[in-house]
Amino acid sequence: MAELHSKANGPDLVQGIAIADLEDGGKLVGHCGDEQVLLVRRGSEVFAVSAICTHYGGPLVDGLVAEDTVRCPWHHACFDLRTGEALRAPAFNPLACWSVEQRAGKIFVVEKRKRTAPMVRDGGAAPERIVIVGGGAAGFAAAETLRREQYQGGIIMISDDQAPPVDRPNLSKDYLAGKAPQDWIPLRGEKFYSKNNIDLRLETKAERIDPRSREVVLSDGGRIPYERLLLATGAEPVRLAIPGAEQSFVRTLRSFADCNAIIERAANARRCVVLGASFIGLEVAAALRSRGIDVHVVAPDRRPMERVLGPRMGDFIRALHEEKGVAFHLEATAASIDGSTVKLSSGDTLAADFVVAGVGVRPRTGLAEKAGLKIDRGIAVNAFLETSAPGIFAAGDIARWPDPHSGENLRVEHWVVAERQGRTAALNMLGHREKFAAVPFFWSQHYDVPINYVGHAERCDEISVDGDVAARDCLLRFKREGRTLAVASIFRDLESLEAELEMEHQSAS
Ligand SMILES: Cc1cc2nc3c(=O)[nH]c(=O)nc-3n(C[C@H](O)[C@H](O)[C@H](O)COP(=O)(O)OP(=O)(O)OC[C@H]3O[C@@H](n4cnc5c(N)ncnc54)[C@H](O)[C@@H]3O)c2cc1C
Ligand code: FES
Repeated sequence: MAELHSKANGPDLVQGIAIADLEDGGKLVGHCGDEQVLLVRRGSEVFAVSAICTHYGGPLVDGLVAEDTVRCPWHHACFDLRTGEALRAPAFNPLACWSVEQRAGKIFVVEKRKRTAPMVRDGGAAPERIVIVGGGAAGFAAAETLRREQYQGGIIMISDDQAPPVDRPNLSKDYLAGKAPQDWIPLRGEKFYSKNNIDLRLETKAERIDPRSREVVLSDGGRIPYERLLLATGAEPVRLAIPGAEQSFVRTLRSFADCNAIIERAANARRCVVLGASFIGLEVAAALRSRGIDVHVVAPDRRPMERVLGPRMGDFIRALHEEKGVAFHLEATAASIDGSTVKLSSGDTLAADFVVAGVGVRPRTGLAEKAGLKIDRGIAVNAFLETSAPGIFAAGDIARWPDPHSGENLRVEHWVVAERQGRTAALNMLGHREKFAAVPFFWSQHYDVPINYVGHAERCDEISVDGDVAARDCLLRFKREGRTLAVASIFRDLESLEAELEMEHQSAS
């Protein structure tokens, strides 16, 4: 997470700037008092909004203006320039807006506008009660959207986690590295739920659903009737099936509690073995290096992340981690864990004070399976995120949806996709008919190197590289039969946003 920009930079916009200094389509940052303000000109209109993204403080001046929106360079949130509204996750809070006057060839930013309630679309008769199973990215985004849309009915959110919805991506990054305080982790404070009349029931497990009586049955036998139901149960870490894996110093990472348990272990540890060179495994490795722990990564792959990012990026990521002191044991798996020794398939042994297993996740589709919903390596949903059972929607890591960009049915494990699906599902539960058409996006962070990925390329026959991967300035295009299916980039944020926009246009045409 970056520090928020607080210094007043650029011209004083209250004093005004020459219209000629802001070309049509251009943007610049100035200040009004202590606040950084972004000016955007579109034809004769000029917009003034806060220059800082409400997610992690990304500089919007480095983002992309598309029609009347601005998109953040860091994780692709999108804001309405007219109202400041956060239109797309991962941002939820709106940008502040200022009124603008043009006179005598100059642009003046006048005063901060009062926030107006977001426009609410009429979706017809709203249901009386909506139940959400899952207190993660998709579940939270759905509840937030329902209230933002002025939905007046009951919202019950059931989560078997002990923590309210948290910023899960941070659990393998700054928080685990000890660089983010605990209070950054909840997506919203507890008051948000009571103030918005969201009945958040933590440590409550949904045992099964009964689509005929339209009830969710809890593990304590309680029954909760629903008119519309959102399944947003996410995924769970795959548990290792090797001797010794059940010991308490072998950890996985999904929840806030998992993360705190690892931090506790790390406090008195010198060496950690990370099993798996996936995004999570390597982010954990990076975070633990920041805590001064010796990290050994064991994985069956030839190169880390090669399957998703290709060989050149894989080599770069390996070199980056090695530079920071991580030791790799590739083309190897853990065969057993005996006391504090991890025995590898190669016969080598590694000493470890604790082990973190990041060997993949499994979607939590049990509720849907038991209820007889259509399953397709995940819960099958249509473009409106409806499952095969009337009134039941699914979103996030569990949902396989028809992706208009690749033409394939996809299920991904991306934070932003889960949040955006939660939002679309919420709108559709209110009776709107909105197709989920967002281009998949994820990011990963290794030390000071962010990797952004747009689109989805399950298979590709060509990877073209623009720039220099080793110099941390590159854009890779993953192509099949000449068509770009996905783009990965390091410090090419604007091009990543442009690629996303292009993919949106392609599938809309
Ligand atoms: C450590 C970590 C780091 C990550 N970093 C990134 C990243 O940098 N970028 C990125 O794009 N993605 C990242 N991801 C992936 C991302 O977090 C997931 O894709 C996202 O959280 C999926 O959202 P979801 O709502 O589907 O599931 P989740 O966020 O997992 O939420 C599921 C919720 O359902 C609850 N639940 C499940 N079953 C039941 C039940 N039967 N009854 C009651 N409650 C139930 C769970 O307790 C949980 O609260 C990361 C994941 C992890 C674990
Ligand atoms: S900082 Fe803007 S989307 Fe994350």
